[in-house]
Amino acid sequence: MSHDDESAPSSHVADQIAGHVADALAAVAALTSMQDLDERGGAIVGKRSALAVMQRSLAGLSPDQRRDVGARLQEARRVVEEAVASRRAELLASARTQRLEADRLELGDVVVQRRPWPLTDGHAGLVSTTQAQLEDVFVAMGYEVADGPQVESDWYNFEALNIPPAHPARGMWDTFYVGLGDPETVVLRTHTSPTQVHLMESAVATGTLPIHAVAPGRCFRRDTPDARHLAVFHQIEGLVVDRGITFADLAGTIETFTRAYFGADIDSRLRPSYFPFTEPSAEFEITCTICRGEGCRTCSHTGWIELGGCGMLDPAVFDSVGIDAEEWSGFAFGFGIDRCAQMKVGLSDMRALIENDVRFLDQFA
Ligand code: PHE
Repeated sequence: MSHDDESAPSSHVADQIAGHVADALAAVAALTSMQDLDERGGAIVGKRSALAVMQRSLAGLSPDQRRDVGARLQEARRVVEEAVASRRAELLASARTQRLEADRLELGDVVVQRRPWPLTDGHAGLVSTTQAQLEDVFVAMGYEVADGPQVESDWYNFEALNIPPAHPARGMWDTFYVGLGDPETVVLRTHTSPTQVHLMESAVATGTLPIHAVAPGRCFRRDTPDARHLAVFHQIEGLVVDRGITFADLAGTIETFTRAYFGADIDSRLRPSYFPFTEPSAEFEITCTICRGEGCRTCSHTGWIELGGCGMLDPAVFDSVGIDAEEWSGFAFGFGIDRCAQMKVGLSDMRALIENDVRFLDQFA
């Protein structure tokens, strides 16, 4: 901009600005990757951009013109910055899709590895192997695998999941408290559901919704071990937050998982249930593999074994992590890895998993 146009700068300057905006928008549309954006973003919106250079030349104008041209430039930069932000979101999403595609396995490729007998060295235990197989099934279905802490604050384990202090639903989980901080504020997690809260919080903070993730890990409850329960056990949590997710997606996911992991001759069913963090909620059961549905001691003569719980995410949970329930919906499930192992290999009593009898353990090398 030169001092000659001081008399009637507006239309000429406006054209010039419009030209820079058009160039910048074309450059934004031509960005092909995050790396591209990192390298060229500065020339489009940064100090080296045409609009920024123009802004620095305002000093030579009269106050009135400076105000007018300044406002136009500011608006122009806002338009370009918005275009860059939305291109960034697109590029991030496509990088993520590519990463998931690269990880995808055929469901038929998920096989149990067996090694020859006798064994001379150690090996992963049945539960670890089961966890790895479950992860494989969900990775094949397009999920990411996440991790979460085993020691949690009351907020993550309960409150953020719509279970306020003294809520009667706390009785669903017999909790081990850790002697840290104020009494009963730090817990050994009673389920993997607090990982849902961590996953949603970090997706909100980094702008990386949607979420399709599973999070396996150790959980703790003050339960007396019996044929189907251990005090230290493992769950795998599933979390999907996306647009337009319905209960049908949840039911289809559970069905697909059961077929892929247990095979076509094992049935699954959902039964109405209650969890404070899902609505509606369901319990997820499969045919007892010990009696094939006939009824036995392990399944308390029902023919069914409960693997876990699931449901549509309650808007109260979205509220506690700052996700807009008008825009997003989702489902969660959480089920026992030890139970899956038990049902997969036909173990009538789960306590065998913690007895450390090498004759038992070596069968699962
Ligand atoms: N966390 C619940 C439990 O351990 C299971 C669950 C997970 C239910 C996710 C609903 C959704 O009892």
